[in-house]
Amino acid sequence: MGERELEVRNKQVILKHYVAGSPKESDFHIKTDATITLKLPQGSNGVLVKNLYLSCDPYMRLLMQEIKGPSVFSSYSTGSKMAEGEEVKNKQVLFRNYIDGFPKESDMYISTENTIRLKLPQGSNGVLVKNLVLSCDPFMLFLMHKSDHGGLFGCYTPDSVCASPLFLASCVAKGKVVPYEATHSQIERKQLYSFLTKSKEKLVLPVQNEATHSNISHMNSASLKVAFVNSCVKNVQPITGYGVAKILDSGLPKFKKGDLVWGITGFEEYSIITETESLFKIEHTDVPLSYYTGILGMPGITACAGFYEVSTPKKGETVFVSAASGAVGQLVGQLAKLMGCYVVGSAGSKEKVDLLKNKFGFDDAFNYKEEHDLTAALKRYFPEGIDIYFENVGGKMLDAVILNMRKHGRIAVCGMISQYNLAEPEGVKNLMLLIDKRITMQGFVSFDYHTHYSKFLDILLPFIREGKIVYIEDVAEGLEKTPAALVGLFSGRNIGKQVIVVSRE
Ligand SMILES: NC(=O)c1ccc[n+]([C@@H]2O[C@H](COP(=O)([O-])OP(=O)(O)OC[C@H]3O[C@@H](n4cnc5c(N)ncnc54)[C@H](OP(=O)(O)O)[C@@H]3O)[C@@H](O)[C@H]2O)c1
Repeated sequence: MGERELEVRNKQVILKHYVAGSPKESDFHIKTDATITLKLPQGSNGVLVKNLYLSCDPYMRLLMQEIKGPSVFSSYSTGSKMAEGEEVKNKQVLFRNYIDGFPKESDMYISTENTIRLKLPQGSNGVLVKNLVLSCDPFMLFLMHKSDHGGLFGCYTPDSVCASPLFLASCVAKGKVVPYEATHSQIERKQLYSFLTKSKEKLVLPVQNEATHSNISHMNSASLKVAFVNSCVKNVQPITGYGVAKILDSGLPKFKKGDLVWGITGFEEYSIITETESLFKIEHTDVPLSYYTGILGMPGITACAGFYEVSTPKKGETVFVSAASGAVGQLVGQLAKLMGCYVVGSAGSKEKVDLLKNKFGFDDAFNYKEEHDLTAALKRYFPEGIDIYFENVGGKMLDAVILNMRKHGRIAVCGMISQYNLAEPEGVKNLMLLIDKRITMQGFVSFDYHTHYSKFLDILLPFIREGKIVYIEDVAEGLEKTPAALVGLFSGRNIGKQVIVVSRE
């Protein structure tokens, strides 16, 4: 192997943040995903060394604090301060293949193979962000189903249609592919995969960045392999969803470096977001940032839109909320209580029922899994009937609710999570009662209400600051927890809003 060009892992000791007082072991971490090329850059007047022994000295303590102004010392750079333009590893959550029904953990996997340059390409009109908190939401299930008809959502690109890096590497090694400078768009991976598996001929492939026409002739087969595989890995896209992120670089006047935003991003450490219309700048940071994945983000808009706009509630009315301990339901119940309504919620465990009654202040709550007759259960809690049903689950619950609705009742159809995995959705038998009872049943989608966001913030922020609303989150630490957390939504494993903390910087 041409060692002069070998790129190797470079284990490093990183100071996480500046330290006041004596340092603790936890102020450092060992970074194992940095790489270094064992060749100095052209024109460098430094030396490249392999470290053999390192010395621990008391003066190093001084470098662990932020030194401002002139000094013989300069502070260490901290882990949170990545050099602008540095190429770093970018951990991602990738999706294997389209699914039917609910996802399994094995439908996703964590990749550490990708890298990203911490600078936007010249002329970009997107933003480069560091993802801080990501949100697991039921709608992500739809993106895992193959959708040829468009629908509300698109769908994720499964990695299985991409050629796996190892497979490609073995093809390069066997001489099945020849890297070639790309002047045209890259061959679609699906075609590439089937070509490589079926064809005995050599395929000329576009190779980007690492290997260009001019330098290919100087590369040996091993570095060609690395270059080629990198160029393929670079195009694999992670799953996407809502998240809170910090802008590292911006090609748009609307956003500047350091801004905090929430909106659709990638499930990865760093993302380049080009569709920035759905990004909201975070102006209020006196509340937990993770709230912008929940009460102050998409589920918050959903709860406010569904309750205030669709349900048109009045003081004293009776309100029933299903999936009531979830991201949307817990908020709807509390908003209804603050309006002076009588509120009952349903949830799938005793722990959740206790939360509804004792933490969120619902008037009553029940475990739907323990009720054999949902119609009778609802009659018990609403002897005079239900004015507003905030629908999150669909199926049998909806049928039972219709039987218990009052005249001129409203059903805000937010979601039907009990139906999402069914090849054949359950039918609703009691719809005819909508006529007799003059019931309004209306579906709605949160992003139709984005223009109401500042109005909703004006309602929610004072409630949060005054402690009139509490918000429960189920926090998973690290991108690695995403598959389990996402899968858990569909079995009710989450207690409150499911979030993934990617970075606590
Ligand atoms: N229209 C929109 O724009 C919009 C926006 C956001 C969300 N939604 C919908 O609103 C609903 C709630 O979303 P969310 O974010 O609040 O949910 P969430 O916090 O992710 O919680 C989902 C909860 O649903 C319950 N659940 C799962 N499977 C169920 C089943 N078969 N029957 C009954 N309950 C089931 C589970 O709680 P239990 O333990 O209680 O079963 C689970 O914890 C979902 O249907 C979602 O698709 C719609």
